[in-house]
Amino acid sequence: MYDLQGKVVLITGAAGGIGAASARELYAQGASLVLTDTSQEAVDTLAQEFNSQRVLPLAFDVTDAEAAKAVVRQAVERFGRLDVAFANAGISWRGVPATLRTCDEAEFRRIIEVDLFGVWHTMRAALPEVVRNRGQVLVTSSAYAYLNGMANAPYAASKAAVESLTRSLRAELSATGASASVLYPGWTATAIAKVAFGGNAIATQMNETLLPAFLHRAIAPEQVARGVARGLQKRQPRIVVPARWAPISLMRGLFNVLTDWHLARHARLHRLLHQLEEETVRSQTPG
Ligand SMILES: NC(=O)c1ccc[n+]([C@@H]2O[C@H](COP(=O)([O-])OP(=O)(O)OC[C@H]3O[C@@H](n4cnc5c(N)ncnc54)[C@H](O)[C@@H]3O)[C@@H](O)[C@H]2O)c1
Repeated sequence: MYDLQGKVVLITGAAGGIGAASARELYAQGASLVLTDTSQEAVDTLAQEFNSQRVLPLAFDVTDAEAAKAVVRQAVERFGRLDVAFANAGISWRGVPATLRTCDEAEFRRIIEVDLFGVWHTMRAALPEVVRNRGQVLVTSSAYAYLNGMANAPYAASKAAVESLTRSLRAELSATGASASVLYPGWTATAIAKVAFGGNAIATQMNETLLPAFLHRAIAPEQVARGVARGLQKRQPRIVVPARWAPISLMRGLFNVLTDWHLARHARLHRLLHQLEEETVRSQTPG
């Protein structure tokens, strides 16, 4: 067991749904927290929930590699150590979900910058401390690491990439006593999930058409947070929440072949994709 009592945990995207719920859970397990997000005000507000001795709220945009190093320096100055880096910040489409044919190039790049390079910057900056303290790196990937990323491709590509990065890291760290884990949340009721469910009628219809009801029922971020704490305590290589995704995650090779085949033949889906593309193009047209 890895005891979280007295450990120092850095969380990126801490003001968001999964980040804040995890902060509360890890704090309850005895950890001190370095809470980071793009807005200082947002992390200050979250920090007010905790004893000020055990929390350091910092503004940190994960796309800034130098800022990542500065955050780790500040954490060590304040607490004397950093044990766990939870690279959790992430974004998807800002507005209407887009296909690869219709998406805005700058937005594509921004998603990769945050969701892939943001994880890399956090991981890279934290590694000297994590290795020194035989600690852990936890990276938020997604079921999108193995699902077909249709209409959410840069997000899915980033989540597959950070999964791969973290698996490599776990192997590379194995002789050091430190470890790395991948977190795979299913649909969770937070701001980011609205892109696929609820925020856009066509994308919602698409997901409802494709996924069985038990898979598109969103869980609470607190459920993910409990998985995070348990996963860190057990140094699990993979944290799959909720567990109903686990068989698909394990059977992904076969599942991918079947779903890709199915998607290519799904006439209703093709109509919805066409409607979505028209809506994206309209939303990009000035006036
Ligand atoms: N909600 C879901 O259904 C779901 C499913 C699988 C994976 N995830 C992943 O979980 C993680 C947390 O997302 P969430 O569900 O809590 O959504 P959220 O939108 O509530 O939280 C994301 C947080 O990341 C922060 N962020 C965005 N850009 C940033 C940047 N450049 N630098 C630092 N912080 C930045 C946001 O300000 C926000 O607080 C993300 O990586 C997301 O991709 C979410």
